[in-house]
Amino acid sequence: MAQSTLLALSALLLLGVLLFLVYQTLLIRRDLGQLTMLVRKVPQKVNRQLSPGGQWWRLFSKKLMNETKQIEAMISIGHAPAWHFSTRKWAASPDVLWLLTSLVGRIDAKNILDIGSGLSTIRLAQASSIDCRIISIDSSLEFAQRTKALVDLAGLTSRVEIRSSGLTEYLIDGVHTTWYEQSVLDGTLALDLVFVDGPPASNGSYARFAALPLIYERLAADCILVLDDLVREDEQRVFERWLQMYPEFSSAVLDLEKGVGLLGRGKWHALIADLGAPESSPA
Ligand SMILES: C[S@@+](CC[C@H](N)C(=O)[O-])C[C@H]1O[C@@H](n2cnc3c(N)ncnc32)[C@H](O)[C@@H]1O
Repeated sequence: MAQSTLLALSALLLLGVLLFLVYQTLLIRRDLGQLTMLVRKVPQKVNRQLSPGGQWWRLFSKKLMNETKQIEAMISIGHAPAWHFSTRKWAASPDVLWLLTSLVGRIDAKNILDIGSGLSTIRLAQASSIDCRIISIDSSLEFAQRTKALVDLAGLTSRVEIRSSGLTEYLIDGVHTTWYEQSVLDGTLALDLVFVDGPPASNGSYARFAALPLIYERLAADCILVLDDLVREDEQRVFERWLQMYPEFSSAVLDLEKGVGLLGRGKWHALIADLGAPESSPA
């Protein structure tokens, strides 16, 4: 009797295992079926994305168009001893270097402040007249020295001064921020062109905000400020804030690779409006 019960239980257990295996096999078959369908759809999907009008195609075209514009801007600037340094990372993009070149000539700049040294320093000096003085500031001694080496290599030593300064805390118009020591501005006066491309964004929010309040008294009556990296939210906030604080400036936003905000006052209102017109875009 006990033996037949044991046999029945074993048969039941075996049946259970068999049913479980059949069930699992059916699940695997279903998953494999779905996977096969997905794999079959991949080429169609890739094809759709890469065909004109597809998302990847549009992104690729946009990127290619931008790279072409940067090369065109670089060619129109012409050869310079520093161009073996890449403009694809930290340096100002060729289109903004083109803009600076154009501005320096159009306003005949005489006192330039370049905030965040590098290729911009070289370009501003090369584009400006012999009686123009360029002061460039950097929060990193290493990068200041690197720019100085480029300046010397380009034969611009007599017209360019590179200043290095640590960053310190400020509270300006309710904004807590860090910026260069104010002593770095000593002797700067009648600034007619200012390129704001530092300190680096890694220094926290409103990283470039203090620039305008701290140099305001040192600006010429007719002056232009160029704020780089307007594609970033922090620079957009800074630009908005400046516009609220200093309504005497005209402004324009240029759709360059990294986005640029322009401010101008005095006799440069019309020039800012002109540069803000879509057909004025560099390259
Ligand atoms: C946007 S960069 C300034 C670029 C400069 N205007 C130019 O045209 O080359 C701002 C600051 O980043 C720092 N910097 C530059 N290159 C860097 C790098 N490769 N890595 C880390 N920091 C860098 C420097 O202190 C510089 O002042």
